[in-house]
Amino acid sequence: MPVHKPQGIRIHARSPRVTVYADADAAARALARRVAGAIEANPRVVIGLPTGRTPLAFYRELVAQHARGADFAEVTTFNVDEFVGIPASHPGSYRSFMEEHLFRHVNVRPERRHFLNGTATDVDAECRRYEEEIAAAGGIDLQILGIGTNGHIGFNEPAPALAARTHRVTLTLETRRSNAALFGGDTANVPPEALSMGMATILHARAIVLLATGKAKAACVERVVNGPLTTGLPASFLQLHDDVNIMLDAPAAAKLRGSP
Ligand code: GLP
Repeated sequence: MPVHKPQGIRIHARSPRVTVYADADAAARALARRVAGAIEANPRVVIGLPTGRTPLAFYRELVAQHARGADFAEVTTFNVDEFVGIPASHPGSYRSFMEEHLFRHVNVRPERRHFLNGTATDVDAECRRYEEEIAAAGGIDLQILGIGTNGHIGFNEPAPALAARTHRVTLTLETRRSNAALFGGDTANVPPEALSMGMATILHARAIVLLATGKAKAACVERVVNGPLTTGLPASFLQLHDDVNIMLDAPAAAKLRGSP
């Protein structure tokens, strides 16, 4: 097994391929390099994007890639989820998050940035619209994901059954707590519902990268890689996809066999 620190250490070679980096910044840099490479290979690449604390370093690195010449002019993006009931202009919305951390710094054209509208009056129509826009864009080439400590991806929460397509979801208390920072630190202010791509929307992406850092993610990462498929851990379904790369720092990899 080649061991080359800056490139990360591959500890699980089949999909999901697991690569462990020296630290969270190294993982973020590697992911930004991969995205810049995907744009170079196909300037019209369609990318699915996450929010959360984890991707902040990745977005910083992507902005740095843009400063080095990565051109996002033909890139199309789809954000994976959004809260229900708050306008796009609300500072806690995922749209605001993306404007602040990525879009105001790079040249993705506004008409190529796609978001779910959390204030749509007809939620079902809004979810259908999103699926249609993804299909019209030719599907997602590279879906980047974070993961909740309970194993959620997007806002597909652990439940007895999971939804295949973009849908409305009731958030768990754990998820609302971990999003509280966007709402002045008060869980009570976090909207109880969200819209999210479904499991099939995500799994139909041609390639998927899951970025997880920090020891709080170690237990669920271990179950995602080695555990059975279960709706109790939505990310476990990533095992069904043949091009998934899980990029970790050492603390998030701590419970995996062979981790550095
Ligand atoms: C939110 C998002 C998820 C994200 C998760 C992890 O709940 N809807 O898409 O993966 O947060 O957040 P963090 O990276 O802050 O742990």
